[in-house]
Amino acid sequence: MSQTVIAIDGPAASGKGTVSKAISEKLQFNYLDTGKLYRAIGAKYLEGYQPIAAARSLESNDLDKYDLQKPEIAQAASEIASIPEVRAALLEFQRNFSQKMPGAVLDGRDIGTVVCPDAKIKIFLTASLEARAKRRYVELNRHDKKISFETILEQIRQRDERDQTRRSSPMIAAKDAKIFDTSKLSINEAVDKVFNYIQTKI
Ligand code: CDP
Repeated sequence: MSQTVIAIDGPAASGKGTVSKAISEKLQFNYLDTGKLYRAIGAKYLEGYQPIAAARSLESNDLDKYDLQKPEIAQAASEIASIPEVRAALLEFQRNFSQKMPGAVLDGRDIGTVVCPDAKIKIFLTASLEARAKRRYVELNRHDKKISFETILEQIRQRDERDQTRRSSPMIAAKDAKIFDTSKLSINEAVDKVFNYIQTKI
């Protein structure tokens, strides 16, 4: 029997990471942040690796080797994420993960559309560009005071555009996804709304 899969997609800083983690903890499901896979390949690409080779040889300890939060790694991730062979190399791992007992939450850009099109529950989280840039600004400046709000906003804008317009698995809400706009919600409110919706479906 196939496991219950919850697909949570959306643009940068829409709240999907925090919401996905909280939902997976409430349900005791496995959780995969698929952005980390692309970020790790982006980090290797910045070190000089060829992206397709890096994707095909990705190992779990690659995810701990780098500071994957760095904005330059996010930018590199969105560049290598437009290469179809890179995406293809990650498919099997993500699909296998989604079928582990007792169920899984995966977050990313193409989970509901390509990775797990049969997911029982699909969520698409979004928020205004300004709200998302503000969140990322607060998050990043906890550690690193060097990056301005304007730079973050511009980087997220570029990344949104690249993620939405690429030919291979563009970021788009699945037809059967429930869309939540988190612009005006606190993180607790966003978690509650999504969790209430999931409970009606599970
Ligand atoms: O945390 P944030 O939303 O800023 O980014 P992320 O989820 O870590 O993803 C980083 C980049 O990886 C995105 O901008 C996408 O280009 C790419 N990505 C993707 O193409 N498909 C996924 N399933 C996850 C991430």
